[in-house]
Amino acid sequence: MQKILISGASGFVGGFLVEEALTKGLEVYAAVRKSSNLQYLTDRRIQFVYIDFEDRESLRQIFMEYKFDYIVHNAGVTKTPVKEQYFTVNATYLENMIETLIESNAVPRKFTFISSLAAYGPAEYTKSGLVTENSEPHPVTDYGRSKLQAERYLKSKSEINYTIIRPTAVYGPREKDLFTVYDLINKGIEMTVGLTDQQLTFIYVRDLVSIIIGSTLDSRKNVAYFATDLEIYSSTLYNKLIRESLGRKRSLKIRLPIPLVKTIGYIAEKAGKLTGNYPAINIEKVNELEAKSWNCDTSNLVNDLNYKPKYKLQEGLKESIAWYKEHNWLK
Ligand SMILES: NC(=O)c1ccc[n+]([C@@H]2O[C@H](COP(=O)([O-])OP(=O)(O)OC[C@H]3O[C@@H](n4cnc5c(N)ncnc54)[C@H](OP(=O)(O)O)[C@@H]3O)[C@@H](O)[C@H]2O)c1
Repeated sequence: MQKILISGASGFVGGFLVEEALTKGLEVYAAVRKSSNLQYLTDRRIQFVYIDFEDRESLRQIFMEYKFDYIVHNAGVTKTPVKEQYFTVNATYLENMIETLIESNAVPRKFTFISSLAAYGPAEYTKSGLVTENSEPHPVTDYGRSKLQAERYLKSKSEINYTIIRPTAVYGPREKDLFTVYDLINKGIEMTVGLTDQQLTFIYVRDLVSIIIGSTLDSRKNVAYFATDLEIYSSTLYNKLIRESLGRKRSLKIRLPIPLVKTIGYIAEKAGKLTGNYPAINIEKVNELEAKSWNCDTSNLVNDLNYKPKYKLQEGLKESIAWYKEHNWLK
């Protein structure tokens, strides 16, 4: 059996990744921390590896002991009040892994890095209005800049066969940030940001993990894929689809001007620092919310991997909302 190491296995995407890798018949090693919540990692076939990405000696020992065939480096920090954390976790940890893999002669057949569309930034900064591999990256957040730093490092290492996946907004059961939008609409309030609609892209978590494992096992190397469901949704349509999936006929529609959202983000971030509960709406998030378009080029996903998403937003939202209701997140 081929061994795959999946980092960030305890997180939202990670749990589904582990499931997908098991389905594909791989021997799955879930990289977690002592503090990780393992409630969704209950399959008895999962083997747990406790990794401290700062400790190169322990990384070396683990890589030498297991000699993984594949590594999916999915661990990452998506929101933190401490800016340096983005760069430490999202970039330096990847560098530590790659250097240790090379030094210990344990380079896997494929190293897949879960980056983000945020590494390239929104589409309005491109000439064509579409983010492509050849676009000049224009991240608007430290999160995006940290992912870009990691990508650049990875691409500079000729010893490694890599795949880079750049998901747009990922949604699905157990997800916590986009859930706040569903929760608000469920309470009867539909909010959009800015005077004109944003052009948004999404991917359902099950389609994403199928792309990740599929491209990891694929023989192509040193390729990067932007990952969406191949559609573009206006923010108004997004809200409408959520409302319909929730079975609500009406809601109060509020369009918030960007300066007001900035103020809310600022206050929420300060309050979050005091309570230790970092909010979904924060200063970085506002930079993303004011972006006009997240349209990106997915043609190589279709051409290389014959990708046909199983879930467009309508179907994915139905499945997600059913899960939130079943688990009493939504009443
Ligand atoms: N969700 C999205 O919309 C989206 C979009 C584009 C890209 N991505 C990328 O996809 C990946 C997974 O995201 P997600 O949404 O599943 O996030 P998540 O639910 O927050 O999970 C993050 C995972 O990374 C681990 N992690 C965080 N900091 C760590 C550290 N210092 N040391 C070791 N492990 C650490 C977490 O471990 P603990 O459980 O122990 O905290 C968790 O398993 C990330 O790399 C993210 O940047 C996500």
